[in-house]
Amino acid sequence: MSKTREGVPGIKYEIWSDKLQKIYGKGDKAFEAVKKIDLRVETGIHGFLGPNGAGKTTTMNMLVGALSITSGKAKIREKEAGSVEARRLIGFLPQDPVFYDNMTGEDYLIYMGSLGGLRKIEARKRAQELCEYFDIFDDRVRPIGEYSGGMKQKIGIAAALIHKPKLLILDEPTANLDPIGRANIIEKIKEISKNVSVFVSSHILSEIEQMCETVTMINEGAIVISDTLKNIKKKFIGNTFQLHTNKNEEILRDLEKKDYIDKTWVREEDGSIQVIPRDADKLQEEVPKLILDHRAILYSFHIPEVSLQDIFMEVYAKGGN
Ligand SMILES: Nc1ncnc2c1ncn2[C@@H]1O[C@H](COP(=O)(O)OP(=O)(O)OP(=O)(O)O)[C@@H](O)[C@H]1O
Ligand SMILES: [Mg+2]
Repeated sequence: MSKTREGVPGIKYEIWSDKLQKIYGKGDKAFEAVKKIDLRVETGIHGFLGPNGAGKTTTMNMLVGALSITSGKAKIREKEAGSVEARRLIGFLPQDPVFYDNMTGEDYLIYMGSLGGLRKIEARKRAQELCEYFDIFDDRVRPIGEYSGGMKQKIGIAAALIHKPKLLILDEPTANLDPIGRANIIEKIKEISKNVSVFVSSHILSEIEQMCETVTMINEGAIVISDTLKNIKKKFIGNTFQLHTNKNEEILRDLEKKDYIDKTWVREEDGSIQVIPRDADKLQEEVPKLILDHRAILYSFHIPEVSLQDIFMEVYAKGGN
């Protein structure tokens, strides 16, 4: 967690919630989209993950004050979510931002800047700086209706940044972008996060892995896991060793007889041996000896790293909690 940035004394959490709940509709039609969640988001980039309909957008909209809270509490840097003070601290990119197609990018940013409390001169200066930063300086005078998806996304993030917020809340900032557009936005978000904390939702797990140090996963309106990526990976670390040599079959026959082995099998893709040991230390002691005995060449012997994708699949396959 990057604690090197200037923090606010006494403020531990960028986002904090206590039993935050959203129920849509009433009576028979009532539907609990967010089930009394306790969020803890510190400085840095925090990923918000979950399948379609998990409640990410609903949660974010409550945090920024765009949607009423049914029950519970939420705070942005100690300020009540939805209050003027809290709103001022936040820059928000909605999942489906609505632009005025006839307005130019620059005019839109100036307009958003004035809503955020900037004077016109200040807003224009800042709009131009941001257009330059997002490589849309020449396009800033074109109407937004003529922009590509990637350019719209950039204008959306620039608009969120115009009033120099302390916290950026980005709802799927890379949706609908091609791989280059995505990489570009991710790079920018990482750069921006040196000065501003970021709470970002995405479906693309590899993106969250590239950007975030901490992650909250939700499913069906409830938090499934919330921790640093490092801790999450540690929790889910596999116990399956992978052994690859030029004599896999011979070595496998030998290994199968050992009492420190629980299970073995061969991975189809590359013929490597997969081993679940009863005694991992013993296995690690014995493998070099086996290699020598068989006069084999060792290509690799390790526990493959788990990816967020593996964890995501495992967590959601279990149906959440
Ligand atoms: N205005 C609404 N009225 C009733 N139900 C709603 C409303 N908005 C969202 N929902 C429901 O609330 C649940 C959570 O939706 P939400 O949009 O927050 O999910 P999400 O995690 O952002 O999904 P996605 O990844 O598809 O954007 C869904 O079941 C959705 O159908
Ligand atoms: Mg959403």
